[in-house]
Amino acid sequence: MISKKEYAGRRKDLMSMMADNSIAVIAAAPEKVRSKDTLYPYKQSTNFSYLSGFSEPCAVMLLIPNRQQGECVLFCRDKDPLRETWDGLRLGPIEAKRALALDDAFPIDDIDDILPGLLEGKSHIYYSAGKDKAFDKQLIQWVDEVTLDKESDSEPCCEQVDLDHLLAELRLIKSAAEIKLMRKAADISAEAHCRAMRFCQPGQYEYQLQAEIEHQFMTSGATGPAYTSIVGGGKNACILHYIENQSALKSGDLVLIDAGCEYQNYAADITRTFPINGKFSTAQAAIYDVVLAAQKAAINCISPGVTYDQANKATIEVITQGLVELGILTGDVDQLIAEGAYREFYMHSVSHWLGMDVHDVGDYKINNQWRVYEAGMLLTIEPGIYIAADNQNVDKKWRGIAVRIEDDILVTKAGREVLTDGVPKQRDQIESLMA
Ligand code: GLY
Ligand code: MN
Ligand code: MN
Repeated sequence: MISKKEYAGRRKDLMSMMADNSIAVIAAAPEKVRSKDTLYPYKQSTNFSYLSGFSEPCAVMLLIPNRQQGECVLFCRDKDPLRETWDGLRLGPIEAKRALALDDAFPIDDIDDILPGLLEGKSHIYYSAGKDKAFDKQLIQWVDEVTLDKESDSEPCCEQVDLDHLLAELRLIKSAAEIKLMRKAADISAEAHCRAMRFCQPGQYEYQLQAEIEHQFMTSGATGPAYTSIVGGGKNACILHYIENQSALKSGDLVLIDAGCEYQNYAADITRTFPINGKFSTAQAAIYDVVLAAQKAAINCISPGVTYDQANKATIEVITQGLVELGILTGDVDQLIAEGAYREFYMHSVSHWLGMDVHDVGDYKINNQWRVYEAGMLLTIEPGIYIAADNQNVDKKWRGIAVRIEDDILVTKAGREVLTDGVPKQRDQIESLMA
């Protein structure tokens, strides 16, 4: 759990990065209609969650550094017994102020009367535009109200500054409490992959493996998947973000599962690829071993002070070398790397940040230079080889084979820690788990 104190510290850290005489406006994510009067399950904006832990829609938080009457102000839905009977309990402003350790909280219905006054005279507004068009428009109206008001003698307001970038820098380095939650998300997800491996039989459908995985997530206390689970049998796994999950699983094919749970707002992201009948064929084993070697080479690169691109380079080298040894590519390895010949088979990069969002926030480059790893960063390592079923340039035995192996890695002072090693990835270990 993230403590009230940690949330307050995050708000303080953000305010310390803001200009003098400024205000940050953070809006809750809008609700989204699924059909007619039913909504998608509500997902709070991760920035809003990061700063407050507050999970209700229809809320706006203001951070106003050095404001005498209080720096942290929330607008949220008022208590309403009738609506609460239908839609669920609301915290309400009075309780929200106490529970979230804020300085002030008001009903959201009063925002038109209160917020423009708080914008008045501010030189900078920190805001993430483009996520909710209606709120973008509303904010412009409030700003116009205070800047175009001829009666007002306040300084004109105000330059808009991107808030996302500041928050991304804070979110990139995980605290001890965050790492604990991500460890739990990783453990649950690893156990779910083991369950799918034990359950898998030819003749089942991809969605049945999805159900096993997601069952394990939710019986373990996770909210659900952190992203739509990918379960691709055979050539379906050549589609990188395949989410239909409707096909039958055939003996002799591999299945690729890319699935991770969300636990208390933090994501895991694991991929394993295994034989549907429990035994790798010779061709599948050959491709698998190249991907596994590439993944291990990349993981071994990670430690503080190393740049972000090193792991990617390591996978490109191992995969290109491996494809040459298998006769899938021909030519000089260095030349093939320079030409990007591997891209036909390995068309994504090896890693992304992981945190509250599965593709988490944080710049990968600073001043056009690859970022240097620091302790507390968390990332995936996920190389793959995907050989299209209709690729006429390779021997038939390789066609339709797709393998990705993905783990979640914490950068530590001493180097790295793999959080997701609760699920096997050595071929013999997978085969014995499935037996
Ligand atoms: N699960 C999506 C990804 O691995 O990036
Ligand atoms: Mn990933
Ligand atoms: Mn993934």
